[in-house]
Amino acid sequence: MKYDKVILVTGGCGFIGSHLVRYMVNKYPNYYIVNMDALTYAGNMENLIDVADCDNYMFVKGDIRIEEDVFGTFEKYNITDVIHLAAESHVDRSIKNPNIFVETNVMGTLNLLNAAKHYWTGFPYNLEPHRFHHVSTDEVYGSLDMNPDNKFREDTPYDPHSPYSASKTSSDLFVKAYHDTYHLNITISNCSNNYGPNQFPEKLIPLVINRLENGEKIPVYGKGLNVRDWLYVEDHVKAIDTIFHNGANGETYNVGGNHEMTNIDIVTTIIEVYEELTGKDINKKDVINFVQDRSGHDLRYAIDSTKLQTELGWCPEETFETGIQKTIQWYLDNKKWMENVTSGEYQKWIDTYYNK
Ligand code: NAD
Ligand code: DAU
Repeated sequence: MKYDKVILVTGGCGFIGSHLVRYMVNKYPNYYIVNMDALTYAGNMENLIDVADCDNYMFVKGDIRIEEDVFGTFEKYNITDVIHLAAESHVDRSIKNPNIFVETNVMGTLNLLNAAKHYWTGFPYNLEPHRFHHVSTDEVYGSLDMNPDNKFREDTPYDPHSPYSASKTSSDLFVKAYHDTYHLNITISNCSNNYGPNQFPEKLIPLVINRLENGEKIPVYGKGLNVRDWLYVEDHVKAIDTIFHNGANGETYNVGGNHEMTNIDIVTTIIEVYEELTGKDINKKDVINFVQDRSGHDLRYAIDSTKLQTELGWCPEETFETGIQKTIQWYLDNKKWMENVTSGEYQKWIDTYYNK
């Protein structure tokens, strides 16, 4: 079959990437989806078992840090478009080991941009049909005060604080520079905190569920008063689809759930929903453990996604109430998944970071 597009999705075995790959493979039988993933600790082939045998899907084990992997994949599959998610994504890990964040998030992005430039600007010189969509984060904008009127807009200046957000900022700037300098057809999405099935349990929500399941204490940084804007992962995937297809060349779009919560409220909500779903009785005071704060901990993130809503017609469909129920139920139904991802490398991280 001749496909209309051959889209390279990077990081498709991770949390958001696996939801995106499944969505694209099912929604667009006329597209061929090539998922390139290095299968780091955060990448899991199990996340995509249900689409693994689809005709319009191909998995390539490849590392975006390695130029030959990237150029070889462009060459072999005649890649026409890129949706780039592969990244080191955990802030706490970036505080422990910043270098790999530069290698993957900056140099890896640069390899992809160079391949796109190389293959898409050859004869005939026609960049327009080829899109490079870069998936980024709201953390590039820094931190907000508690004034509810203040939110991140697309023109908010970049002000990253963690090595993770500094590396994502750098990658955003390179994507913009390749648009300005080499006229690559690019779009960027800057999204708030995602939650949902298949999220690696180093991140707050699955970490809390996993700890409840194991009867362990829940580490809450500082006083638990930092605020995040939570978005259900399927809504993020739909936003990426919308921006990839309809976003204007060179533009950035902010994506947010319009659902701000303090960490302590998130933790207590999870405990309450977990109690309802399991019939267990949890003493919050016993399980919540206020621990030393994250270094450079951003106080508040909140996204203004007016541009995406008014210009492209996207809006979040899932409420937090239903989304968190579905999420907790998924982890309860998929204990084997949790067991598989929390052995080996995960245990080393927990030992060095939390049990030091
Ligand atoms: P994740 O850590 O769950 O998955 C990352 C994926 O990238 C994994 O499958 C991993 O194997 C792969 N990967 C890592 N290094 C690689 C390399 N060198 N070569 C190829 N593949 C590599 O991350 P996620 O939470 O799904 O985030 C995906 C993207 O979305 C990231 O770019 C992240 O910055 C961005 N983002 C995440 C959130 C969030 O709340 N999780 C919010 C906004 C933006
Ligand atoms: O805002 C988007 C970003 O959201 C993404 O770009 C990142 O890839 C993603 O990891 C996420 O970053 P955060 O640092 O906000 O997510 P995390 O789940 O690590 O933490 C959420 C909040 O919970 C944060 O304020 C720190 C706090 N926290 C986290 C952990 C892991 C705790 O209190 N205890 C914990 O053990």
